[in-house]
Amino acid sequence: MTKKPESASAPCQRITGKARLAGVLGWPVSHSRSPALHNYWLRRYGIDGAYVPLPVRPEQFETAVRGLQAAGFRGANVTIPHKEAACALADDLDPSARRAGAVNTLVFEEDGRIRGLSTDGDGFVASMDAKGLTLPASGRALLLGAGGAARSVAAALQDRGLHVAVTNRTPARAESLAEVLPGLEAVPWAAWEAGLGAYDLLVNTTSLGMEGGPDPMFRPSLKAAARHLVVADIVYVPRLTPLLAEAEQRGLKTLGGLGMLLHQARLGFREWFGQDPEVDAETEASVTASF
Ligand code: ATR
Repeated sequence: MTKKPESASAPCQRITGKARLAGVLGWPVSHSRSPALHNYWLRRYGIDGAYVPLPVRPEQFETAVRGLQAAGFRGANVTIPHKEAACALADDLDPSARRAGAVNTLVFEEDGRIRGLSTDGDGFVASMDAKGLTLPASGRALLLGAGGAARSVAAALQDRGLHVAVTNRTPARAESLAEVLPGLEAVPWAAWEAGLGAYDLLVNTTSLGMEGGPDPMFRPSLKAAARHLVVADIVYVPRLTPLLAEAEQRGLKTLGGLGMLLHQARLGFREWFGQDPEVDAETEASVTASF
């Protein structure tokens, strides 16, 4: 996609001495689209604030968080590989973070306490709703992967009443996920393609299919899929992963990962900057322009 120049009438970012500050902690962090997204919202709503990338090595994570707090930041997003460290560091966890065992949003409270939230799973479900892909409460979902993203998405889908199964290359990880999320089913990695017909939703939560990831060409067989299967990928670089291309070719409904990125960001923005931001076509275009 060609880069769209910002229109001459686009509002400028306002950063005064009173600006509210937030950012994203990751290692590496240069791939993150969160700065593009949050600064778009700051301009759109005319908020005096800034959101910056914060490349922080794992061994420096706690020092960096305490430093941001000391420097008056309102909080931060947390991405790979810090989500579990952020969970351990937070003084208070909201229920979603406790269930996910991970934190992607830190809020620095005025009394010095650090609150941790996990908004990935709810962001995923909201992105499904936004595309009109709401599933029946009795639906069945199969998740590929058993890492932090899988746990967060699985918990959110269970909260919606879905039966959730996970399958993972390393079976022990799928089994330990089943221990922390009662009702979750672990399916053998070698068997999921053949058993796909039993599900209404397939979600790839691994980095398979991601540009620069372990296997960018990951294109599993969807031969056994039911005609109504919805295929979702939380990978958003590229926008159309090989898995989604395969699903489209079979005439299945698909959901890309960008929607989850946009929706998971809303809660943090509201906490730090005091405004509930809208996710609409313009928001999506502003982030897509940064690709
Ligand atoms: P995150 O917190 O973003 O989910 P993670 O905890 O590192 O990241 O999880 C990455 C997921 O991608 C895991 O399910 C991982 O499978 P393993 O537990 O077997 O490592 C999966 N994954 C990564 N590379 C893979 C590959 N080449 N084949 C299959 N699964 C892979």
